[in-house]
Amino acid sequence: MTRPLRGAIVGYGFIAGRGHAPTYAKHMGNGRAVEITAIADICEARRQAAHEMFPLARVYPNHASLLAAEAGELDFLDIATPPVDHAEIARAALGRGLHVLCEKPMATTAEDARAMLKHAREARRVIFPCHNYKHAPVVKVVRSILNEGVIGPVHLVTMQTFRNTHAKGVEEWRPDWRRERALSGGGIAMDHGSHTFYLAFDWMAAYPTTLTAHSSTTNGHDTEDVFGCTLTFPTGVVSAHLSWTAGVRKVMYTLHGNKGAIRVEDEDVELAVLEAGPGVVEPGSPGQWRFEHRVARSDWMDASHTGWFGSLFDEFRGAIARSEYVGKDAMEACLCIELIERAYRSAAEGSRLVDLLDGSIDRPARLRVPRPLLGPGREAEDLA
Ligand SMILES: NC(=O)c1ccc[n+]([C@@H]2O[C@H](COP(=O)([O-])OP(=O)(O)OC[C@H]3O[C@@H](n4cnc5c(N)ncnc54)[C@H](O)[C@@H]3O)[C@@H](O)[C@H]2O)c1
Repeated sequence: MTRPLRGAIVGYGFIAGRGHAPTYAKHMGNGRAVEITAIADICEARRQAAHEMFPLARVYPNHASLLAAEAGELDFLDIATPPVDHAEIARAALGRGLHVLCEKPMATTAEDARAMLKHAREARRVIFPCHNYKHAPVVKVVRSILNEGVIGPVHLVTMQTFRNTHAKGVEEWRPDWRRERALSGGGIAMDHGSHTFYLAFDWMAAYPTTLTAHSSTTNGHDTEDVFGCTLTFPTGVVSAHLSWTAGVRKVMYTLHGNKGAIRVEDEDVELAVLEAGPGVVEPGSPGQWRFEHRVARSDWMDASHTGWFGSLFDEFRGAIARSEYVGKDAMEACLCIELIERAYRSAAEGSRLVDLLDGSIDRPARLRVPRPLLGPGREAEDLA
């Protein structure tokens, strides 16, 4: 039996305590795939909470003291602090030869994100972002429908993320840090933009070429609470709207192909397919619609998304096993930060259209697209 991965957590707040810890605790049982041996948090009350959950783990007041004492006995560091500290903590961990699992957004500037990837390559250690929405059961259903090819290649996506408040951090520290730019690096775009963009890359089977964005801020906060953007891709258009001022907590996504569409509302999926009948139904003709409903319980109301973490952690372990230091997820995490940064610039300049093909952005290698998703004239190589 291979020995368990030995990990430490830095930042034992809401996501670490409610989202990651239950999976670690489960793995630390029979399977022994992972051991959490150390935890650091700058807040005394959170160190106490960490000790209660992991009584055998050693607890430290900051990442530097943890790494100084423990690095030689660790395989990876799980970074779950607010975003502005991710880059510095990742740099310290990679410098000590540890793999890094990092909460989103991976960094708050593109420069930091690029440096993190470069450092991981040079250190020959894995850097892996917590892009957990891909692991939501309902998102996996969408992926499987796309793989079946029943709606054809996707050329239009709308994405709406409604929240009636900003997400709150743990009470014992600064529950409203998402409204403090110095800690968060931005508002809802910084907090949620990564989820929006990496899902868009997957559904459009491509990376964007232009964007335009707008944002607004209410009540004198220094981070935005409403954000909208339109991205163009070689394959089509994505329009996204994110809000912390909505009347309800909900996600609503629509994906449109030339043979049908998928509508997601939290855990409900509606598949609409234009039945071709004996002949081919011309695009735009009334045709015959077949509707199919599926439910994929995804526990959207629980912001810790704890049920999605196991499958994400398995991918991190897989990347370590394959020595895939900077994989597609890490490159997409970097691209997400590039897009967030450029979206802020667009919004500040009256929604100026930003060209993303100006050569300044590193793009992941071309997406490998399953055959059924490619329409006439669209080969995998065409998808930049
Ligand atoms: N993937 C998801 O679905 C998801 C959901 C929630 C939060 N997150 C991300 O997780 C991260 C943390 O968010 P949260 O909601 O858990 O916040 P939180 O405020 O609940 O937790 C942050 C913890 O980090 C500690 N901390 C702050 N600075 C530190 C530092 N420099 N060193 C050590 N400890 C430090 C705080 O004391 C606190 O315990 C953010 O990047 C956030 O975007 C991701």
